[in-house]
Amino acid sequence: MSTAVVEAQGLIKSFGSTRALAGVDLRIASGESVAIMGASGSGKTTLLHVLAGITRPDGGRVTFLPPAGGVVEVSALSESARSRLRRESFGFVFQQGLLMPELTAVENVALAAMITGVSRAEATQRAAGWLAALGLQGMEDRRIGELSGGQAQRVAIARAQVTGASVVFADEPTGALDSTTSSEVMDALLWSTTGQGRTLVVVTHDPQVAARCSRTIAVRDGRVLGSAVAA
Ligand SMILES: Nc1ncnc2c1ncn2[C@@H]1O[C@H](COP(=O)(O)OP(=O)(O)O)[C@@H](O)[C@H]1O
Ligand SMILES: [Mg+2]
Repeated sequence: MSTAVVEAQGLIKSFGSTRALAGVDLRIASGESVAIMGASGSGKTTLLHVLAGITRPDGGRVTFLPPAGGVVEVSALSESARSRLRRESFGFVFQQGLLMPELTAVENVALAAMITGVSRAEATQRAAGWLAALGLQGMEDRRIGELSGGQAQRVAIARAQVTGASVVFADEPTGALDSTTSSEVMDALLWSTTGQGRTLVVVTHDPQVAARCSRTIAVRDGRVLGSAVAA
């Protein structure tokens, strides 16, 4: 059996009287691409945030098994330790890239590495390398507003990779894009994650996006209904 990279057991999370997660168990193997699908309000974003250590569950636990070895109980870490884990081991891509509009493409990407202690020169070099690999050579010095939606998402993908993240979490990364651009962004996302031996967990409404992943997990009312491996 393949090695797990993230495991969740009995996850419970409520917001007031809303039960967003009602007992979720799952196991994500290293190198997988997993799509999380379900209706709006079914708990997908909450699940992603709990798995990634952004939100602490009310019950249950999340374990991260770094590819280099060791076991990290994500749900037991302090706020600052979870923040460090997110910066160093995880990458994030959201529907709107949450890029800094006043910075250029290369600065946005390099910043993520600099926050983990990499020098500016080294971070800039790595950032330029990822941008080029994602088809953005020549656009390094453009500000985010000077890029198309698909190009901006590729900057966000580069930013998620530049620290060497072993797991990339994406929430509706193609939600604001047309189908052609969406397909190009998925190419970039899959190439830069599973194509490099990393793991991708992507929340999506789009069956075309899910079809590109190696497995789909269906969520309803805060529970996992089932998991299907791609044909
Ligand atoms: N910060 C929050 N405060 C209050 N309710 C929330 C919060 N986040 C999510 N919820 C509620 O939890 C449920 C699951 O939300 P969410 O995980 O965002 O679903 P999805 O991503 O599948 O649309 C919804 O009923 C939502 O309204
Ligand atoms: Mg959501």
